[in-house]
Parts: sequence; C-alpha cells; structure tokens
Amino acid sequence: MYIRMSKFNQKWLSKLLGFFHQCWCAHMQQQQQWLASLKWITVKRCMAALLVFSIISIIFYMHYLVQLSFQNKSRPEPFIQCHVPSSMMGTPDHRSAARLRIDPKVLVVIETPDSRLGREIAELLVYNRIKSEILVIGAPVIHKTPENVNQSAHKIDMSGKPLPVLTNLDRGKYSVVVFDNLNSYVYMDKWNRGLLDKYCRDYGVGIVGFNYPNEETLVGAQLSGFPLFVHTNLRLKDAILNAASPVLRVLRPGNTVWGALPGENWMVFTPNHTTYEPLVWATQIMEHEDSIRRLPVVLHDTGSFDGIQRVLFGSGLTFWLHRLLLLDALSYLSHGQISISLQRYILIDIDDIFVGERGTRLKKDDVEALLETQERIQRIIPGFRFNLGFSGKYFHHGTQEENMGDDILLQNVGSFTWFCHMWSHQQPHLYDNVTYLETEMGLNHAFAEEHGIPVDSGYSISPHHSGVYPVHEILYEAWKNVWNVKVTATEEYPHLRPARLRKGFIHRNVMVLPRQTCGLFTHTITIERYPGGREKLDESIQGGELFQTVVFNPINIFMTHMSNYGNDRLGLYTFESVLRFVQCWTNLRLLTASPVQLGEKYFKMYPDEGNPLWGNPCYDARHLKIWFPKPCDQLPHFLIIGPQKTGTTALYTFLSIHPNITSNYPNADTFEEIQFFSGNNYYRGLEWYMSFFPSLHNGTFQYLFEKSATYFEGELVPRRARALLPHAKLVTILTSPTNRAYSWYQHARAHGNQMALDYSFHQVVTANDTAPKPLRELRNRCLHPGKYSQHLERWLLYFPAQQIYVIDGDQLKSNPVKTMVDLQHFLNITPSLNYSSQLRFNPKKGFFCQVMETNQTKCLGRSKGRKYSAMEERTLKFLQRYYLSHNTALMKLLKRITFWSFPSWLREELAESAST
Ligand code: A3P
Repeated sequence: MYIRMSKFNQKWLSKLLGFFHQCWCAHMQQQQQWLASLKWITVKRCMAALLVFSIISIIFYMHYLVQLSFQNKSRPEPFIQCHVPSSMMGTPDHRSAARLRIDPKVLVVIETPDSRLGREIAELLVYNRIKSEILVIGAPVIHKTPENVNQSAHKIDMSGKPLPVLTNLDRGKYSVVVFDNLNSYVYMDKWNRGLLDKYCRDYGVGIVGFNYPNEETLVGAQLSGFPLFVHTNLRLKDAILNAASPVLRVLRPGNTVWGALPGENWMVFTPNHTTYEPLVWATQIMEHEDSIRRLPVVLHDTGSFDGIQRVLFGSGLTFWLHRLLLLDALSYLSHGQISISLQRYILIDIDDIFVGERGTRLKKDDVEALLETQERIQRIIPGFRFNLGFSGKYFHHGTQEENMGDDILLQNVGSFTWFCHMWSHQQPHLYDNVTYLETEMGLNHAFAEEHGIPVDSGYSISPHHSGVYPVHEILYEAWKNVWNVKVTATEEYPHLRPARLRKGFIHRNVMVLPRQTCGLFTHTITIERYPGGREKLDESIQGGELFQTVVFNPINIFMTHMSNYGNDRLGLYTFESVLRFVQCWTNLRLLTASPVQLGEKYFKMYPDEGNPLWGNPCYDARHLKIWFPKPCDQLPHFLIIGPQKTGTTALYTFLSIHPNITSNYPNADTFEEIQFFSGNNYYRGLEWYMSFFPSLHNGTFQYLFEKSATYFEGELVPRRARALLPHAKLVTILTSPTNRAYSWYQHARAHGNQMALDYSFHQVVTANDTAPKPLRELRNRCLHPGKYSQHLERWLLYFPAQQIYVIDGDQLKSNPVKTMVDLQHFLNITPSLNYSSQLRFNPKKGFFCQVMETNQTKCLGRSKGRKYSAMEERTLKFLQRYYLSHNTALMKLLKRITFWSFPSWLREELAESAST
C-alpha cells in the first residue's frame, strides 16, 4: 500500500526507529549484562518504549488509512449524456381559446379516502400549486383539514349522490377530471357518466385515468364501451416517449429510461381505433426471454371516437416519468389553462465557507474543480455562479494545503457570488443582545472588505436556520443594520417536511424564501456516507427526489456546505448530473438570478405568501430547538373572539374574577385588547404576542385567555389563530344583530364619530353605495359583524365545532351566573367558581355587576351598558328583514354543529319574521 508522508512525519518516524534500534541494542547488551549482573530495570524501560512505539504506529497508520479513504478512489464523476438532437428543443404551447371557458382547477375523483394513488395525485397538484377539488366515491366524508384548506384542495363525499355542479353560469368549473381508478370512470352509473361526458364535450374538458392494480389478470379484455383492449399485471422495462405526441410539453422525448420499471402490475393497451396514439412505450419482461416488442403503456385518446380527449396511464405515479407526464396531460387537456412555467431558477449556496473542519476543507485542486464545474454549468445555465457564504473567523484554519485552498478561493473572488454567514458561525437565537449580534456581523463585514469580498448582495443565511423561523427578532434587526439584508432562505417554514409544502414569507421587509435540500449535509463528504450510497444518490438525480425538486419548484435555492466540495466533491457531481438530467429529459429553461431578484420574482409569483403565518414553535422539535430558551407556556388556552358590542367586556371581567384564570396584560395602543390576529400587530411577531402573557410558572393561575372582540369577523383571523393555537377553545357571544348594530352606532356617537353625529341610525344603516365613504364605513361596521353565520362558517373551516362555544348574549345580561357555570364546564375549568356570590344585579346600572369584598358592587364603566333611546320601529323592521337570511343560516349552522341550545333572541327574531 502506498502511503504519502509529509517530511515532518518521515523525520519523526526515522527518529522513533532510531530510538527503537538503540533500545534493542541496549536490550541485547543488557541481556548480556543481566546474565552477568541482572540489571533488569533497563529492560523494563525499553519495553515501555516499545509499547509507546506500537501505539504511535497504530495512530500513525490509522491517520493515513483514513486520509487514504478520503482520497478520490471512489469519487464519482458526472456521466449523464443527452441523446437529443438540438433541433428537438422547443417550448410547446398548449394554449387555445377553449381555455377561456374553463377554470384552472382539477377535479380528482378517488375511490377511497386511503387511496395511495389518490393521495399522490393530490400531493403532486399541491406541490405544483395547481388548484384541485377531491371527490371521494362511496366512502365516508373526509373532513377538511387545515392543510387541504390552505392548499385549496378539499374533499367531498359523493356516495350515492350526483357529481358536484360542473358549471358556474357559462363557465366550466374544472379544466380536467382525473380518476385514480380508470374503472371508476368506465363503470360510472349511467346518469353521472352522461352528465360528465356531456360536460367534457361542451367545454372541451379532458379526462385522465390510471390503471388501479387488481389481483385479477386481464388478457386482451375490452375496456367496456371503448375500442380498446387491455392486458394487466405485467412487468415492463425500457420506457420511451412518443416524440410525435402533442401532449409532451415539460417532458422532452428522445431518451430511454433503461431497466425495469417500478411495480409488477402494469397495464398495456391494444387499441382498435385510430383515436388512440401511444404516449409511452415499454417492453415486457418475460420469464425466459424478454420481448422486444414495444407496447403502449400510456395512451392518448385524441377524441375522434366520442369527442372526448383522454390520457390513460398503465400504472400509477411511482414511475417518475408519469409524474411529469401527468403535468403535461393536465396542460394539454386543459388547453393550456393548467400549464406550469417552463422556467427554472437555480441558485446553489455553499454555506460554511472557511468553517469546514480541518481535514475536510477545500484544497487547491478542489477549488480548481469548483471553477471548472462552474464553467461547465454555465453552458447549461448562462451566468451561473456558485454562491459562497463565508464566516471569516475560520479563514486559514485548515492544514497547509487547505489554507492554500482558502487563498485560491479569495484569488478568484470575482468568479463567485458571496453572502455573509455569521462571523463565528454561531446561532443567533442563542443571544438576546442585538449589539452583540451586530458586533459579530461587523467583524465579518470588515473581513469581507479586507479581502475584496462584495458586501452588497443583500442576502444572508443563518447557521442552522437559527433565528430565521421561528423568528428571532433581533437577528432581523441586526441583519438590517449591518448588512442591509433584503432576502434570506430557510427550509423550516412552515416545516422542514414535507418539502413540497415549504413556502416563503416577508418579515420586517426581509424576504424569506423557501430553501431546497439535496441530501448532502456537512458530514456527507464521501459517496459512502450518502445514505444508501451511490445507487441512492443516482436514483435521486435520475428522476428521483432531487430531479423532481428542480422540476416542481420554479425557484430553487439549494443548500450545500463547503465540505461537499472537497473530499469526494459530491456537490459538484450531484449538481452537474442533475442539471444534465433535467436538460436531457425536459424542456425546462434553466436560469439563474441574484437572491434579491429571486425574492422579487418569488413574491410576484406568489403574492399571498408575503403574509407570514406564525405556527407554534413548541409543536415542532426542530423549531423548539431554535425557539429555546423562549417560553412555550405564554399563550392563551382560549380566546373570546367577539363580536364587539355583545357583552365581551362583561364576560372578560367575570372570567377574571376566577382565581385560576387570567388574561393578558393590557395593550395601551389598542384599548387594552391585544388585537394580534386581526391587524398589523400580527407583523410584530410571536415574541411580541407572548410578552403580553404571564408565565404559568410564576402564578397561581392555570388558565390564560385573550379577548379581542375584532377577531370574530376578521378575514385572516381564523387561519392565523389555527396556525398558532390549534387546540385553543373559542368563545363567541351572539346577541340580536339588530341590537348589536344599534349599540355600535351609539358607541360611535359617544366617541365623536362625525357620521354618527350627523346621521340618524336609520340613515346610517340604509345608506347605499353612493353615500360618502365615511358613512359607508360606519354602515359597514354597524352591519357587517352581525352576519354571524358567514363569520362562523369561516371559523369552522379551521376549527372543529367542538372547540367553539356560542354564548347567548341575552342570557349573559339576564342570568350571567348560569352563563358562567356552563362556560366553565365547556372550558373544563377546575375548580368551578360559584358566581352566584360573585355577581349581583345593580338596579341603577340595569346590569349584573361584580360583588366586592366590601359587599358593594363594582359595575362596568359608563361606556358599557349605555342609556339611549329605543330604536325607531321602521329601522327595527328594516334590520330584521336585512338579517333574516343571515339568521336563518345561523339557525341551520347551529343545528348542523349540533349546538344544543339556541339563543332565545334568534328563535324570537325568526318567529317574528315568519309572522310578518
Ligand atoms: P350597550 O352599552 O350598548 O348597552 P362589549 O363589551 O362587547 O363592547 O359590549 C357592550 C355591551 O355589553 C353593552 O352594550 C351591554 O348591553 C352589554 N352587557 C352585557 N352584560 C353587561 C354588564 N354586566 N354590564 C354592562 N354591559 C353589559
């Protein structure tokens, strides 16, 4: 075995050997002397030296064996070659005028809620941000979950019922209908099938169907009603695309997927009509001798048989080619209405520059290889440059060779783009002192200036994503002050997994982009260390996870580390290979741009994502690690959500009497309420919100709550509340919406609202849309919150009915003791407080008030329980008519959620409306 030794090591080895030789001689001499004089003590010394020598030799050999294993014997080299003539490159466009009559939405019909293929289809659509609706046939209702609500996919049960309404006025509601089981379509009942086929013909909508594995093998069986024969349960290999097919758009034909295709239940088609065009062929794997005949495994029905275009898949989505083919089929069959972009932006970050451990860092030839690969990638992605994130403190912290590598990186500073990491690679969330973070960042800034590294990229990455999400406010502050950071990236928002759901958000004017991973981590320095070895890495590159990451994300910011570019240079192998594979198999245009440009493009593409959604960091182990040592217990257990003017202050006051219940500290800005979920306070972040709550460790109370009466009708509030407090209980008070509106009007008058002073209540509520803006605003604030059913429906999208409690506002006024008993029961408050000794009716106030220790009552202030004249009869009638449909819907809603007692005012108002 050849072992390279440095001069230093050779010198020491020869010294040791010399010493050992001397010992041996001494030993021989001593042996003679021993025989003569028995001076055995010298032998003992030599034995000790021998032992030391052996240990040093073992360490020495181990060191070089390890070094040897790092050397590039197994280093993989990119080998993927395209066999596509350049003339075939193009960007097919499926758009036609027919797309203008259909909505960009897919109806996915799945057999059972637990259909694996159904789930895969839905996930693929969500990944590509394609809107979908899922129809489960013959199965129990699947409740909407926050995930599918957010991803605009929801599930409906149609057992025994007709298809959902397919049109809206003169527009088709779905562009394509996808069946996870082709048989569900073929054997659909006559009525539904007739409706669906007519819809498809009228609106030019296409159908996709998949072969659903079945134990029974069909041999040449006819697909009922179609001039098409099928053969099932086959094993296939070597798939190729039909280059002449108009369906292909993302996929680029010309290559073969060599080897066995996944699964053993393939269906192949034998058409008996010219309507069918093969889209993919494969050959059969036979027991003795493999067939050489190409069999159609994906078929395009061009519609010449019955006027409907279809794409039929002989297998599910386990085969990567089918995943792309499904996207192409959706694009083609929807006339371009559902076409994903063909541009892919690629940025490859190399984090931890200079941070790598001694022995794993870049040497001179690694840097040269980096530059050479960069040049080759530039032929695929014009203008591509690796983006290097540096921590200056560790400059020149390697071996002599590695320090030379550092120098060469800096000599080529202009060949790369650069961004700042933390100076000492520390995790910002561990520090609560902004000055400290700024000082550290300042050191890296000075290092950059000293070495000619550009400092204006506006981009930064935090080690281990610390402080980015969950947000550590002072990191954002320091970033702005020292580096003017405009954009960063994390893989943690909303969670690391599933990767397809990663999103971006904007906080304190910093655009946070989702970051993609490629399976290479700091320790993945040799191919053996890649989980599953070379085979798995190649699988990920050649159609697998990494390839699909590039295909399904229009903007890819990949995270890698310095150590991935030394040693086996896996970073270079991985990216050059996957980019070549993308080039071979797709028509995607690979591009690059600066991080700031990428941020701008991202939020232009997905403007809704600009709004952050704060989750509870304590529910995700990775988030908790970053969040720590911030508290987990300073969040409310229940929320009083309003609406305003229904008695929320009285309820708040009564709850606060309970020794075990406490609310937030008052917020001076918003009349004591925090109003976190409903307004701009939300952008102040979670730390700000939590600072309003005491720690449960420091008090006798066990239950925290928050009351912000504006939550009830806030559009964004239920979604935000669900993200942070999914287990919180919600309490709402409903009074007659007519009285509520009048109470709000009186409130506005008392606060000097000019419109309320100038216009009568009748004029306000009957104002039409040509009225002056401030008058319309007052009208809306009077009327809008009272549309109770609308608002409750929104809450029910995000919270189960069991977590929502409706208090009858009239009962709260007339019998608050009963209200408080029931509420405590719902909230599981122990011990339950007996409010009969706590509350007493005050005739002067006309309301129940708190009994103090002095036995006197303390009532709410003048602004609660105001005295004002009764509402005009005509206004009352007007409002009762106005709210009739809303109240009827509320009654239905309460019945639906099996609410056991209906507010008395609701019964009365409905009865009254019925009698007039
Ligand atoms: P009015 O002042 O119009 O009578 P909120 O606290 O949500 O703003 O609601 C104020 C309303 O609470 C009051 O409206 C009043 O009718 C009602 N309320 C219910 N119980 C009350 C109580 N014990 N003391 C005072 N007002 C009470």
